[in-house]
Amino acid sequence: MRLAIYLLIPVLFYSILDRLFYTWLPTNYKFDKEKLAALSREVIANHPDGNATAIIIELAPKIKAEYPTLINDLNFDDWVYNNAGGAMGTMFILHASISEYLIFFGTAIGTEGHTGVHFADDYFTILAGKQLAAYPGATVPEVYLPGDVHHLPKGHVKQYAMPGEAFALELAQGWIPAMLPFGFLDTLSSTLDFQTFGRTVWFTGKDMIKHLLNGKF
Ligand SMILES: *[C@@H]1O[C@H](CO)[C@@H](O)[C@H](O)[C@H]1NC(C)=O
Repeated sequence: MRLAIYLLIPVLFYSILDRLFYTWLPTNYKFDKEKLAALSREVIANHPDGNATAIIIELAPKIKAEYPTLINDLNFDDWVYNNAGGAMGTMFILHASISEYLIFFGTAIGTEGHTGVHFADDYFTILAGKQLAAYPGATVPEVYLPGDVHHLPKGHVKQYAMPGEAFALELAQGWIPAMLPFGFLDTLSSTLDFQTFGRTVWFTGKDMIKHLLNGKF
């Protein structure tokens, strides 16, 4: 009997979170994926050479102008490594709250791995370079080029690669805290890069608390 209750609690908890994902949670979303993609395409068009640095430097203030209270100070010293699902990249957190995050993510070198299983919808707008993705059984990759948005729906999983230099603007909308273990466990179980871990927890945690105190869930 007691065991049954212990098993029931996570199932119940999950079904409540799942129900909220489709009902209440989206009422907290402030970022418009179409708007972000449009801004990205505008800036990409100004840089036909695909210079990721120049694109990011021009795009970030445009996003901040659109969402002044939601975007962090653009202190570009605050990039951190991200190891997850066997892939490694570098990210800059523009915004993190309980229901959304917006980051620049990419690599100067190239990477490949597992997307992770997420309790969120993910919109990955390519800024420079390209991303390849494939569902199990796929024999040819999906190819995403600058300006394309790769939408990974909640719960979907793919193998992905960013061959060579590639950068993207990534918006996630859903239960963000549920995504964090995926973002952290490679550090705790593999890289043991506790400086990166500490910086990532700090940048994410202070942002989530700041927005929560401002009433942005
Ligand atoms: C890319 O853009 C940055 C920032 O504008 C600039 O400093 C750099 O020289 C550019 N790189 C190339 C290869 O043009």
